[in-house]
Amino acid sequence: MVNSSAEAFAPATVANLGVGFDILGLALSEPGDVVRVEPLEQTGAHILDIQGDGGKLPRESHKNTACVAANSVLELLGSSHGVGIHLEKRLPLASGLGSSAASAVAAAVAVNALFGTPLSLIELLPACLDGEAAVSGYHADNVAPCLFGGITLSAGVSAEQIYPIPIPDRLHLSLVTPDVEVPTATARAVLPHSVTLRQMVAQTAAVARVMNALYRGDIEALGAAMEADGVVEPARAHLMPLLKEVRTAAKQNGAFGLVISGAGPTLLAVCDEEVTAQKIASAMQMVYNDAGIACIARHARVASSGARILHVTS
Ligand code: HSE
Repeated sequence: MVNSSAEAFAPATVANLGVGFDILGLALSEPGDVVRVEPLEQTGAHILDIQGDGGKLPRESHKNTACVAANSVLELLGSSHGVGIHLEKRLPLASGLGSSAASAVAAAVAVNALFGTPLSLIELLPACLDGEAAVSGYHADNVAPCLFGGITLSAGVSAEQIYPIPIPDRLHLSLVTPDVEVPTATARAVLPHSVTLRQMVAQTAAVARVMNALYRGDIEALGAAMEADGVVEPARAHLMPLLKEVRTAAKQNGAFGLVISGAGPTLLAVCDEEVTAQKIASAMQMVYNDAGIACIARHARVASSGARILHVTS
């Protein structure tokens, strides 16, 4: 039986956690994208309406991340029905908060709900990755936490290669998103094609330290290890306005470390108390305000759950 509409929410995510390029990620509880779908007589998935993107997102089915994911779910279901998609973009585009993954995941979960939720979240993973790949490459570091919640290690792109990592009780986050777009493709184009053996050893050691700190719940060690990135941040730093100044401000206000969130330009600071996270967010905001750059600053925690169905109308 096909329902008459279904709506789903999928959260913002932070990919990389500094040194864990393309493999580590975490989910935030808010903000996120909302997708509502309805059955259509024509086959395939089609965008009916997008709100909140300033007209910037592609409406063509093969280019829109939500549409690509929805089409993949229809294929998985072997459905002869089509779906119409209403996308409410609440995440800023090209901001390092997993915007494309959120749209893809929300669409996949909504289409599944439209058909009575026959597929598990794990079974939806390939469809979500197809959507993400339409704009940002076939990697799971945003999609996995967006779909499943929490902190995830994506050692590959199949469900058995996604490992949930413990969320330290005392982990508090501060995020600041300057009003500057950094398309993922641009941020990936500046990366080196190869690294030296020495860099490889240092980066591997830093990722191992991040994992160790997460398992021990040691936020100070976590912050230091996340920042020990000798490969990706140095290549991307010039795309992030005032990175050095924001890092200094965050640390002066109690942050244990600050890294680029995903492909940027959002910056993420970690600390161990809510009041400190609030102070850090304000201090980071002030750096951009003083430079005349608009920004949104927030403090947040890791969300233990990811995408969810909001409404189903039979
Ligand atoms: N790991 C990805 C990157 C996240 O940093 O390019 C953005 O898709």
